[in-house]
Amino acid sequence: MADGDAPLSPDAPDADAPDEPAPDAPGAPDRRRFLKVATCALGGGLGVGVAAPAVSMLLHPVGRRTVTEAAEPIDAVALAALGPEPVRVPLRARAVRDAWSATADVPLGAAWVRRDEAGNVAALSSVCPHLGCAIAYAPAAREFRCPCHDSAFAVTGERQRGPSERGLDPLPVTVEGDRVKITWVRFRAGGRDREPV
Ligand code: FES
Repeated sequence: MADGDAPLSPDAPDADAPDEPAPDAPGAPDRRRFLKVATCALGGGLGVGVAAPAVSMLLHPVGRRTVTEAAEPIDAVALAALGPEPVRVPLRARAVRDAWSATADVPLGAAWVRRDEAGNVAALSSVCPHLGCAIAYAPAAREFRCPCHDSAFAVTGERQRGPSERGLDPLPVTVEGDRVKITWVRFRAGGRDREPV
């Protein structure tokens, strides 16, 4: 430092520094606000871009359809085993899959199956349409009965008496060669209308 030069104070403006608008100069606060907003928007956009795949992976497979029952026809019984009297046939799925796992040989329910004098094959769900108890067959009376609240149904499934508002629920049947295939459907309990669930 040459004699006579005044010492530089830390607060003294640097003569070599580029001119910056004073904080109260017109336009300075707008520029700062713009930079702040732009930085936040950029950061937020990057954050969403990184987080979205991670969240989607964590939630997988939420939202996908969960399969709880076999939707395919089940090879249920030999045609030759059927006659005018109903036969109770348990229905088991070879495999049931849901969004997370697969299970083999799963019991789904049962059907009462018969082949009438004209050769037509029909299957009725063994689930009582009133509140879901298991239906039994009374051969002497040739009717189905529910032990829970005494609903009764004809051998063809029509409602006879009791609190059930509808007849037994029919199940889809196909005959392939000498085998009878039945598709298991669970219906909503109660009510007159038949609604698969
Ligand atoms: S559950 Fe069958 S009559 Fe009520």
